[in-house]
Amino acid sequence: MQTPSGHPVESTAHARLVVLASGGGSNLAALLAAHDNPGYGARVVGVVSDKPDAGALDLAREAGVASVVVAPADFADRAAWNIGVSEAVAVFQPDYVVLAGFMRILAPSFVDRFAGRIVNTHPALLPSFAGAHGVRDALAYGVKVTGCTVHVVDTGVDTGPIVAQTAVPVVEGDDEATLHERIKVAERALLVETVGRIAREGLRVEGRQAIVG
Ligand code: GAR
Repeated sequence: MQTPSGHPVESTAHARLVVLASGGGSNLAALLAAHDNPGYGARVVGVVSDKPDAGALDLAREAGVASVVVAPADFADRAAWNIGVSEAVAVFQPDYVVLAGFMRILAPSFVDRFAGRIVNTHPALLPSFAGAHGVRDALAYGVKVTGCTVHVVDTGVDTGPIVAQTAVPVVEGDDEATLHERIKVAERALLVETVGRIAREGLRVEGRQAIVG
């Protein structure tokens, strides 16, 4: 295993993950379930949320993982909030930052600070249906297959190099909720598998290619 800077890590070491989440946190729960396995290679060391009532915060507390709320209402403006998030994340000295249902856009200064070490999970097959309503937009378009994507975060909205994807069929009678639930089953498995591989083998970006290993 290597650190993002290419230094070898002893085999007993775990990559430090900070997870950013705004919602219920089922993806966080999946990572927390995986990280106790000594072979997983990563540990969630901190959870940061923009929402004081996010279910993800309860999950962190139950798992004994430190959590921080960085709510936009507590900051003068977006720029100050972004600095607040960046500082909150940096305190945990992460090897990787995982956006797992984090529903706000992070400023380029945040992306630059953790460049190449931020991954996001998105509930559609990017580059289709980027943005906050990936499931709804795919359904409205009438696609027969959608899915989920883990990608490296760049300064665009869901535009960074793709690490892994899983296809999920749309079935007759699906609404946004039923389709999203089916996607989330695939998404949790993909996120856990992909983050584990990244932690154990490293991640690098060459142009549009995100390469694990
Ligand atoms: C996940 O489906 C994630 O892909 C999505 O929010 C859900 C969070 O679920 N994120 C986005 O739509 C980001 N654009 P969770 O809180 O149960 O992990």
